[in-house]
Amino acid sequence: MTEIEWWEYDDAAEMAQAVAGDIQFIIEAAIDARGAAVIALSGGKTPIPIYDTLSKAKLDWKRVTIVPTDERIVPLGDALSNVTMIAKTFLPKGARVMPIVPQATADYKSAGRSADALMQDLHWPLDLCLLGVGGDGHTASIFPGPDFDEALSGPKERRALGVMPEPLPPEAPVARVTLSREGIVTARALMIAVTGQAKRDVIEQSIKQGPSSPYPIGRVLADAELPVDIHWAP
Ligand code: 6PG
Repeated sequence: MTEIEWWEYDDAAEMAQAVAGDIQFIIEAAIDARGAAVIALSGGKTPIPIYDTLSKAKLDWKRVTIVPTDERIVPLGDALSNVTMIAKTFLPKGARVMPIVPQATADYKSAGRSADALMQDLHWPLDLCLLGVGGDGHTASIFPGPDFDEALSGPKERRALGVMPEPLPPEAPVARVTLSREGIVTARALMIAVTGQAKRDVIEQSIKQGPSSPYPIGRVLADAELPVDIHWAP
């Protein structure tokens, strides 16, 4: 059973300060130990204040590589692009932000194969994987439905794959590329940052369900190889 620790805050601003501090510590430790840090950061809206706070940290940013936990299959610069959101914050600091969706994309499965090939060249395991969770229990772009099993029980060496959520999520109704189970649960540090009671309820229910959870976040937590910190604000 994975060791899970909840960290609760009065509001999202307090959570942002704490999570940014934890990520800074992880980056510094990775640079001290291995000369570089490779971290996966989630998209969506919740982490934006965390990234804004983290970007102000005094770090050797040129030694930091950031990949998105998942990316919508849209052109760079598109308002839906996670890489674009992350790059706007961290490229000016000198960090390397890795687009994982090739611009000339034949289809989502080939985009997934290209992303996997890109990811193989990174130092594994990742030093950090910061996940968000959707109201349906999805995490990264692993959604309940047909892609669920492929993303979470595919070949061990695969780090990323292309998915087409069914139904398409209203906030970003496009195909995606996502880290796979291996890309997530093997990270040296696995953190979740969520707000709101509804998402907390989904996570708590999925923890109780364990490996048979219908929620992707439940399966990820059941498979995690290290303790997981869940940061939560109302
Ligand atoms: C994405 C994210 C996704 C996100 C959740 C929560 O591309 O959408 O990576 O997994 O973390 O959907 O998003 P919010 O933080 O916006 O609620």
